[in-house]
Amino acid sequence: MSKIIALAGKGGVGKTTVSSLVLRYFSKKGLGPVLAVDADPNSNLGETLGMDVLKTVGDIREDFMKDPQGVPSGMDKIVYLEMLMNQVLMEQKTFDLLVMGRQEGQGCYCMVNNILNRFTEELEKNYKYLLVDNEAGMEHLSRRTSGKVDMLLLVTDYALRGLRAVGRINEMLDSLKLSVSNVGLIVNRAPAELGKVFLDEADKIGVQILGTIPNDDTLLEFDMERRSLVELPDDSPAVLAIDKLMEKVFGIIN
Ligand SMILES: Nc1ncnc2c1ncn2[C@@H]1O[C@H](COP(=O)(O)OP(=O)(O)O)[C@@H](O)[C@H]1O
Ligand SMILES: [Mg+2]
Repeated sequence: MSKIIALAGKGGVGKTTVSSLVLRYFSKKGLGPVLAVDADPNSNLGETLGMDVLKTVGDIREDFMKDPQGVPSGMDKIVYLEMLMNQVLMEQKTFDLLVMGRQEGQGCYCMVNNILNRFTEELEKNYKYLLVDNEAGMEHLSRRTSGKVDMLLLVTDYALRGLRAVGRINEMLDSLKLSVSNVGLIVNRAPAELGKVFLDEADKIGVQILGTIPNDDTLLEFDMERRSLVELPDDSPAVLAIDKLMEKVFGIIN
């Protein structure tokens, strides 16, 4: 069964950045196969990986619902949807990317949703690791039949608001019917030493701090130049921090 690493946190704290750095880690270490799932409706994991995402699972659902008769004659609709799903999967050398896109709009999407969810879960079985970049509500994860997560990485920036958002996600876990084996906190854009107020607040949440990631200007330059974060140099501060952090994560989940 694939190991599932998921990221969640408030918008703008660095979930997608950390996801890309984790993918970089997998790529450089030759660990895999890995499926990256961009489960944030405001999807941009493709961008930070230097990929042009043309179609999402949400687009397939919309297209199909707009024109259910659009299935080529003689073709079963399930086979047709599967064919479209295969077009959405973006295959790279060291990992694949699936972008979920928008959640459903109005109307009953049950049938097509069930089919697409089943495909996604079947597809996921082909990978050793799954990395899921979530929105705060973690809808994609809670829809899965198994609801299993091996490591939930809660990401916050060095601010109390980010930390409190993480606290709320942590509290919500039971109601989501997710079976989360491990939860760890990542403090992104952190100073060399975390201050007492921040640490006290983190203590209250009760999630162990797995590691911190410093502010990294190289990362911003890459962002500006639309270069993939997977290509960041080995010695850039954020990369060094992720390497250390991932060793810890592997020690926990393997
Ligand atoms: N450690 C870091 N150093 C420098 N810039 C960062 C760092 N982490 C994130 N950023 C920048 O912050 C912005 C928001 O990050 P992003 O990963 O998109 O957040 P989220 O996915 O949580 O919304 C991006 O422009 C990103 O380049
Ligand atoms: Mg994001």
